[in-house]
Amino acid sequence: MFRIAPSILSANFAKLGEEITNVLDSGADIIHFDVMDNHYVPNLTIGPLVCEAIRPLTKAMIDVHLMVEPVDRIVPDFAKAGANIISFHPEASNHIDRTIGLIKEQGCKAGLVFNPATPLSYLDHILDKLDLILIMSVNPGFGGQKFIPEALNKLRAVRQRIEASGKKDILLEIDGGVKVDNIAEIARAGADTFVAGSAIYGAGKDSDPHRYDTVLAAMRSELAKVK
Ligand code: DX5
Ligand code: ZN
Repeated sequence: MFRIAPSILSANFAKLGEEITNVLDSGADIIHFDVMDNHYVPNLTIGPLVCEAIRPLTKAMIDVHLMVEPVDRIVPDFAKAGANIISFHPEASNHIDRTIGLIKEQGCKAGLVFNPATPLSYLDHILDKLDLILIMSVNPGFGGQKFIPEALNKLRAVRQRIEASGKKDILLEIDGGVKVDNIAEIARAGADTFVAGSAIYGAGKDSDPHRYDTVLAAMRSELAKVK
């Protein structure tokens, strides 16, 4: 089963509620929520107040991607704000196992995020505690960047580790440069959850509430070709 997770980073923030409702009505599964702090990454976005504001709009999972350092202090705030999944970068936490535990204690699913140059050895002793593994196919900080093909090898390697662990319900998510024309190849490499910002929110005319139907249907039809 494949899940599409539009990144609201590329949405029109002047009407964020509508942007979320429209993309879900067009068939998106999960809302990907990028949190940047101008410290861990060179950009600044949205925090728990915005998460809390959008929570009543949907029962769909809110997938909070923390690009912040430190991590732990902000975790309970996002849990209270209604996040379902909280993911963080291992380089941003001094105690990765503790941060995973904290996220779960707060009632959320825990994810670990791998930058293009972050080694998969971070998975060695904690894989079975994770609910989600997120492979970055761009360097974090901005939407609209080009997909880095090495991410496909990384996905294959993580998929093998998940299979070997027997914990097959771990989600394997890809983030960065995902488009209609590469989503099938990414799925074949092992991803089951696809973040896409500019490819979805860049589609169509702003005035059309159904402008995301076409791009989401095109992504689904590409995914349907993958066994
Ligand atoms: C980048 C963010 C992504 C971003 C993806 O740091 O984590 O979620 O929004 O945007 P696109 O799909 O445009 O590459
Ligand atoms: Zn993201």
